[in-house]
Amino acid sequence: MEKKKLLVTGGAGFIGGNFVQYMVNKYPQYIIYNLDLLTYAGDLTKHREIEQNDNYHFVKADITDREVIFSLFEKEKFDYVVHFAAESHVDRSITDPGIFVQTNVLGTQVLLDASKQINISKFLHVSTDEVYGELDFDPTTFFTEDTPIMPNSPYSASKASSDLLVRAYHETFNLPINITRCSNNYGPYHFPEKLIPLTISRVLNEQKVPVYGDGKNIRDWLHVYDHCSAIDLVLHEGLDGEVYNVGGHNELTNLEVVKTIISTLGKSEELIEFVVDRLGHDKRYAIDPTKLEQLGWNPTYTFKTGIAQTIQWYLDNKDWWEQIISEEYQNYFEKQYTI
Ligand code: NAD
Ligand code: TYD
Repeated sequence: MEKKKLLVTGGAGFIGGNFVQYMVNKYPQYIIYNLDLLTYAGDLTKHREIEQNDNYHFVKADITDREVIFSLFEKEKFDYVVHFAAESHVDRSITDPGIFVQTNVLGTQVLLDASKQINISKFLHVSTDEVYGELDFDPTTFFTEDTPIMPNSPYSASKASSDLLVRAYHETFNLPINITRCSNNYGPYHFPEKLIPLTISRVLNEQKVPVYGDGKNIRDWLHVYDHCSAIDLVLHEGLDGEVYNVGGHNELTNLEVVKTIISTLGKSEELIEFVVDRLGHDKRYAIDPTKLEQLGWNPTYTFKTGIAQTIQWYLDNKDWWEQIISEEYQNYFEKQYTI
């Protein structure tokens, strides 16, 4: 029997990287292609253990490069595409929105067009709950798949635009698709510009941790391994054309997250520094995951077990994040923060 071919875009990044490893190990009968441009957020050292596997291939390419993407699709005739590649950091989208439209909107359109040319079984678009905008602090309200799309940041607007294109290619061209919208991920290989890895790395280095505004904004935290199992399920069992929200009931204020990390590492809360708030800072995200649970998904991590595992991972893998924060990251940090 011929092996199924799975293209993962953005597989050198945080979530895509974890997903590539999950799939390479779980499905030796698939051939997994990791396509990534290796921007500042992409790194291949994480794949050292799988790079010699017969069922893993890396392709360095830009998803906005129509010619390259079309010829790759023509040659390989993928069965599945799982699309993670994106610009993913809200703060960077506030400073420089253009690259977000370029990569997230136009890049997705190129992949959709290329997928339309071949007989693809599924295009799974990995999106975010941020496309729904923000919730207020009423703890009984949640995002469902029917919540109107109302993005507030250039990042979430670019993701919402790509979601709408994916939906339109399904409606217009019958392209088999699913869209997943997940809450904030955390776990191994998370780039230290995002709240949790930024806090862990700075606390370990006894540096101040910048908390935006009053620290009361709420996020719903999802361990990346639970996200990988959700995508696996939707890829294989998701009903054609459907959207699935991924996350659930792990809501914490940013201050609670930062304090948990500080106390786990046995450091002082004096490291917390309240800084000027993010522009358009969404108050609260929270997901109702009922639809995905009905498909058969259940998370295996609580925030308590997940953050303990994650902190331990950062303690055990200092080489990985120390190398990252010693490079271009320093310039970014100095421009972004005044502490
Ligand atoms: P990331 O920033 O860690 O990784 C993005 C990857 O995409 C990098 O490896 C980068 O090199 C690659 N890339 C960027 N531009 C490219 C281009 N033009 N061509 C090819 N590759 C390119 O992102 P992440 O946190 O792993 O997020 C992955 C996906 O999940 C994104 O689509 C994001 O919107 C979505 N998402 C993330 C979160 C989260 O908490 N991190 C939450 C919800 C949804
Ligand atoms: P982030 O990790 O950037 O994810 P997102 O904006 O996609 O939710 O931020 C998570 C929360 O933490 C968000 O409310 C902003 C806040 N935050 C800080 O307070 N300080 C920081 O330095 C960063 C990066 C984020």
